[in-house]
Amino acid sequence: MKIGFMQFSPLLGDALGTMKAIKRLLSGCAGVDLLVLPELCNSGYNFTSYEQAWDTSEAIEGGPFIAFLESKCSSHNMHIVSGLNERDGDVLYNSAVLIGPNGYIGTYRKLHLFLNERDFFQPGNAGLPVFDIGSCTLGMLVCFDWIFPEVWRILALKGAEIICHPSNLVLPGFAQRAIPIHALFNRVYVVTANRIGTEEELTFTGVSIIADPRGDILAQASRAKEEVVVREIHIALARDKMMTPRNHVLNDRRPQEYALLTENAIVKR
Ligand code: ACM
Repeated sequence: MKIGFMQFSPLLGDALGTMKAIKRLLSGCAGVDLLVLPELCNSGYNFTSYEQAWDTSEAIEGGPFIAFLESKCSSHNMHIVSGLNERDGDVLYNSAVLIGPNGYIGTYRKLHLFLNERDFFQPGNAGLPVFDIGSCTLGMLVCFDWIFPEVWRILALKGAEIICHPSNLVLPGFAQRAIPIHALFNRVYVVTANRIGTEEELTFTGVSIIADPRGDILAQASRAKEEVVVREIHIALARDKMMTPRNHVLNDRRPQEYALLTENAIVKR
């Protein structure tokens, strides 16, 4: 199975320009099974007003960016996970969508909003779904979700073998250090597709990553260049959860000792 990321710079408020860039970058993607694109691909990230966030959003049903991805997945016989500024009724979600050769499959809505995202988006209300696409089972997280180990673990417990992670990272290098560790802890593949470029005061940090279930980095992009990088993977490695012949990383947990993790306690210092 061939999986990869598209690292590039989605254009703020110019979905047509972004689609043109994706089309150009997809031209080298023959034979790729699963490609991950950055966060908020249809809109850009650093909105200056709620109106701008609203005007650049789209509904899953009938949305032009979704229709574009559907046509590309069909013509390339591939799956794509992309960040989407999603409109649902009168609210917005910072979402990731999964599209396949036969069209739209499913959505994850970002649970952990970063900085000013709280001014535009509602926190996700659709849980942590996983999707069986035949060749593998995959889950999705979005950018700042990276710092919450709970969500990675839940996706692994639900059977995710690949976690797709559209991102617009701005903190210097922290997520890129954590991603291989999440992959190792859960013995899954992770594809983090980070964007590049700047929007006003924000510079996005690139260095998109593919990590394997041993925590090894299979691919790491540059900090500032457009890149599509693809690697051949062996999904059986993500199905083997044994760290030693007697230690299964999921079944050896002691959840009876972890009750605090599900309490909504505010931690003071
Ligand atoms: C982020 O969550 N976009 C940093």
